[in-house]
Amino acid sequence: MTKKTIFSGMRPTGRLQLGNLLGALDNWVKLQDDYRCLFGVVDWHALTTAYEDPSQLQENTYQMVIDWLSAGLDPEKSIIFRQSDVKGHAELHLLLSMITPLSWLERVPTYKDQIQQLKEKNLGTYGFLGYPLLMAADILLYRAETVPVGEDQVPHLEITREIARRFNYLYQTDYFPEPETMLNEVKILPGIDGRKMSKSYGNTIDMSEAPDEVRKKVRQMVTDPGRIRKDDPGNPDVCTVYAFHSIFNAEELAEVERACRRGEIGCVQCKNRLADRLTAFLAPIYEKRQALEGQLDYIRDILQEGAKRASVIAEQTMDEVREIVNLKL
Ligand code: TRP
Repeated sequence: MTKKTIFSGMRPTGRLQLGNLLGALDNWVKLQDDYRCLFGVVDWHALTTAYEDPSQLQENTYQMVIDWLSAGLDPEKSIIFRQSDVKGHAELHLLLSMITPLSWLERVPTYKDQIQQLKEKNLGTYGFLGYPLLMAADILLYRAETVPVGEDQVPHLEITREIARRFNYLYQTDYFPEPETMLNEVKILPGIDGRKMSKSYGNTIDMSEAPDEVRKKVRQMVTDPGRIRKDDPGNPDVCTVYAFHSIFNAEELAEVERACRRGEIGCVQCKNRLADRLTAFLAPIYEKRQALEGQLDYIRDILQEGAKRASVIAEQTMDEVREIVNLKL
């Protein structure tokens, strides 16, 4: 029985947050046993928006792999590699660009949105328009059947399937499977100020944050603004601390809610309980990161080994693709 192939990737843009851990990484870790997994640090994708200042790319690549390993990705089980080390991504991207109508790329819903949202950058580039196509190349290069992603990537998977279909149709083949989307389970995790967690708001908690830092951030979390004294009855529905309890402290949740509504537990005490839970949850990850932090040679070895293994699959695909489009002598 051959395992199905999974491909997924993340852009190396900085330390991963708690949301990346819960939304994606934890899921990847679980998939490692049942699938042939490839996980790519998609640095070319990062460059589509960071091209003006790529100074952090290399450092971010190392740090992201450290986060991945700390969360439990295992280079013995999964192929962990950097996109730009496997040139097949670029070659397939180029070949697919021949058959992809511009209009398909222009109408990807996130395209105009992103250009608007990141106004300080000039994203009127060829590379940025081709972002979804590069992503399609990532996936099709390994003929992955399944792609675990968040909701925001659904349109990109849709266009990947359209491109696979178009390739198969044009060259009368069934070479590329149409990859299916495996939606990450969403857990709504607010930032410490209660707004959406986002680097631009400065309200994030990193997945590999030091325990003291985690405690500090929990202390800063906003609670029910209507609660002035500690024995005032509280409303957990509007409390950030409670939102975190509901994810990290399921066992005590009912008790926390009851005590809050009756004003029997003060916010300080409630935050201490959460901080205990959260730091315990993150402790193994933090410890693993501490052990890996100085070992950049080891990380580089993992990426080199991963690139070798990925290249074997990629080269075979490209060989067959070249044949299909008559580029072979
Ligand atoms: N665009 C994805 C994101 O921002 C990252 C990505 C690049 C990806 N290539 C991929 C995800 C291929 C899944 C499969 O999250």
